[in-house]
Amino acid sequence: MDSITLTRPDDWHLHLRDGEVLKAVVNHTAAQMGRAIIMPNLKPPVTTTAQALAYRERILAALAPGSRFEPLMTLYLTDTTTAEEIEKAFESGVVKAVKLYPAGATTNSASGVTDIKHCAGAIAAMERVGMPLLIHGEVTDNDIDIFDREAVFIERVLKPLLERHPALKVVSEHITTRQAAEFVAQGPDTLGATITAHHLLFNRNRMLAGGIRPHYYCLPILKREEHRQALLEAATGGSPKFFLGTDSAPHEKGDKESSCGCAGAYTAPAAIEFYATAFEQMNALDKLEAFASLNGPRFYGLEPNADTITLERRPLSLPSHYGFDDGRSIVPMMAEEELAWSLKR
Ligand code: DOR
Ligand code: ZN
Repeated sequence: MDSITLTRPDDWHLHLRDGEVLKAVVNHTAAQMGRAIIMPNLKPPVTTTAQALAYRERILAALAPGSRFEPLMTLYLTDTTTAEEIEKAFESGVVKAVKLYPAGATTNSASGVTDIKHCAGAIAAMERVGMPLLIHGEVTDNDIDIFDREAVFIERVLKPLLERHPALKVVSEHITTRQAAEFVAQGPDTLGATITAHHLLFNRNRMLAGGIRPHYYCLPILKREEHRQALLEAATGGSPKFFLGTDSAPHEKGDKESSCGCAGAYTAPAAIEFYATAFEQMNALDKLEAFASLNGPRFYGLEPNADTITLERRPLSLPSHYGFDDGRSIVPMMAEEELAWSLKR
């Protein structure tokens, strides 16, 4: 196969940031994706519908002329989010989901949820109106090993949550373990999961063997090969519960290449090419369209995009970095490496 045409994909988990970074990154995604679920972990976080509407306007203003990219907004859940705010968000038609960050789990999560019991009213409202809850599923306890935090979260938080709220739509975001893949596959139809390209392509050796490679440090952290294999099987296995979410997370070069580097892989510029590379490893390019373009809209109750994209078997070279106007830069994943697939532009 030397070319594949797919319904245009969407990214169901994306960080665009704000200001100069937003302007530097949004068109990378808009060149590939029809829509994206935009993460709310700005400084300060997007906790109200009014903030989400204003952020959406800044995103639209940063798009290249003629772009038809549609940002789907989210609210950042806190211990004090009210049921009224959830209803207002739902009625806006613009906020499509609410994001739960356990406090301290990752970048800009300090205002996140300290204990899910504080969110009972907001979560009951989400269940009532049909607003999906997107979960960063890791416990934050210092006594739990960083490689085990996702599996422990499933037992301690996710299972009881699904039992308490049988009609709540939940997306287990960026799953990284066999335990999560199996839990989602066997779970109720209200439960879905996004999988990143980096967790499909790499295990933790890529980050740690032969030197520390900070551009592969992300959260949840890269795991062992057996977990990567389980994710590949989930993504290519035909289940509609798994869909594309890059978790593309731009950080300035110096903030990654630092004595205490930030978590995040910048994958947006070649997102669909990264996924095609992973699916080809499984001889499953025929399953890419469902994962990238159909399962996500189905879960969110939206129509798939009406247009298509074409991938060609033509080498794609990732640059060393993308510069912004003010001289700072962002290093993409697989910088200065080559992929076998390119998006036809
Ligand atoms: O690697 C990550 N980066 N994981 C997250 O959960 C957050 C993200 C970010 O915002 O940088
Ligand atoms: Zn994320």
